Amino acid sequence: MSSTPLTTTAPVPQAPPQCIGVPREISPGEKRVATVPAVVEKLVKLGFRVSVAAGAGEAASFSDEAYRAAGAQVLPSAAIWAGADILFKLRPPTSEEIEWMHAGQILVGFVWPAQNPELMAQLAAKGLTVLAMDALPRTLSRAQKMDALTSMAGVSGYRAVVEAAHAFGRFFNGQITAAGKVSPAQVFIAGAGVAGLSAIGTAVSLGAVVRANDTRAEAADQVVSLGGTFVPVDYAEEGGGGGGYAKVMSEGFQAAQRQMYAQEAAAADIIITTALIPGKPAPRLITAEMVQTMKPGSVIVDMAAEQGGNCELTVPGEAVVRHGVTIVGYTDLASRLAAQSSTLYANNLLRLAEELCKAKDGHAVVNMEDDAIRGLTVVYQGSISWPAPALAAAPVAKPAAAVGTAAASPAAVKKRGHGHGAGSPMPARTLAIIFAVLALLFWLVGAHAPAAFLGHLTVFVLACFIGYMVVWNVTPALHTPLMSVTNAISSIIAIGALVQMAPPGAAGADRPALLIGALAFVALVLTAINMFGGFAVTRRMLAMFRK
Ligand code: NAI
Repeated sequence: MSSTPLTTTAPVPQAPPQCIGVPREISPGEKRVATVPAVVEKLVKLGFRVSVAAGAGEAASFSDEAYRAAGAQVLPSAAIWAGADILFKLRPPTSEEIEWMHAGQILVGFVWPAQNPELMAQLAAKGLTVLAMDALPRTLSRAQKMDALTSMAGVSGYRAVVEAAHAFGRFFNGQITAAGKVSPAQVFIAGAGVAGLSAIGTAVSLGAVVRANDTRAEAADQVVSLGGTFVPVDYAEEGGGGGGYAKVMSEGFQAAQRQMYAQEAAAADIIITTALIPGKPAPRLITAEMVQTMKPGSVIVDMAAEQGGNCELTVPGEAVVRHGVTIVGYTDLASRLAAQSSTLYANNLLRLAEELCKAKDGHAVVNMEDDAIRGLTVVYQGSISWPAPALAAAPVAKPAAAVGTAAASPAAVKKRGHGHGAGSPMPARTLAIIFAVLALLFWLVGAHAPAAFLGHLTVFVLACFIGYMVVWNVTPALHTPLMSVTNAISSIIAIGALVQMAPPGAAGADRPALLIGALAFVALVLTAINMFGGFAVTRRMLAMFRK
């Protein structure tokens, strides 16, 4: 007799989990890898299978064994390209790599669609879906966790200082030793975006005296907050060109800026340039004459070398000595810190994988209704979908509105909807039902609860309502300053402390006045810190948004 199964219901066929493939980067000198073993474990927890090309992480110090131990399969490169459903990469694919792909695959990596129209056409012709990490809408606050441009720029800024320190023949910090006094190095940073700010923080932490300039006015506070000194150009013109990026400045501004840069160059030991304008060649800020005026042994690290360079004498990809000054034009600064940049990039891709696979079932869904995913998707199922439509509204309000009266702020800094109905008005019927239920509850409470309780409840409900209206109508980018100002306002409890500190009156004759007074004094000191600290933090944060 055969042993037939007792159950008669057929199992529901389930699609096997998708495979994320991580090929080896083949661009010459590229040491980074798109995922690391610690992240492989998390991708597996999302339900995906993960395959890594043999030796893919070798140059970044991640062995094949480590990937295997984390749950990945280690396969030959060809098997990755052919077998993966989703490919995690760093550099834009070469024509050869595109040949190895097939229709229906999802490619994730840097693409630079504006600079690479031919590549875009090839990717579309292949029938792929392509998510370009460089096309992420960076100003969407919930997209920041996926912002690989920021991660890589942060690493590059740090490495630029390390390269400068390597080429520079002296200490960064000032020292007084038995052998003599050493002055701190004078560092000038041109461009205080993500990379520039990272360079400022690193150089300051090494003990250098750091000065910096940027055309965007909001950069000034950020420079100061990292311990640098902001050097303005003596010419009134705002450099913001939208989306946090810079614009090409007028001739008048450029002349005034050249004059200031000439003075800074003559005084600096190290110059790190990071100035870029999206879609334009890097602005020429350091002329050959400025290099000539620098002290022998000085160093320039030109982080804009790939886009033509901020310094006239930069040779992209090389370190050269001109007029006694070492000019470093490396274009692979992030790759020179491969383990760190790979880890950060892998984390950015993990956050993206979480967005693509909300069900944690190992299946990626490219939701074109989602602002962040829509922005990233430059090719969708074989059709070019770049550029994405502009986001519905500016995410950050004009500062005048942001710091205006409580009544003006919420209206002025309206939150934009992020799909899923967030920020969109509730249907009238739902609202009516909610109000009816609430009214019934209030009637019940009013009819049966003591009068004092009703008073407290009314205050509580009104407070909840006002809190909801204020917080939910403020753009997410302003939530942190909102929290700090709320914190400051909560210091109203200072009044309670002041009342307690008053000399005991007739009613308080029998209370331990000294103890209560002392406790009230401590409360007042603590709440004063809360109050002044809260307002100071708010002021500083709002200044960062000020145009
Ligand atoms: P970037 O790499 O395009 O440019 C670097 C810096 O060079 C910028 O600060 C720019 O203002 C400056 N610059 C351009 N021309 C200049 C000139 N002629 N002289 C002096 N400086 C010049 O910019 P990056 O670093 O990618 O980011 C730019 C901005 O975007 C920053 O303010 C950053 O904070 C902001 N950002 C905002 C994000 C968010 O809201 N979630 C995320 C990432 C960046």
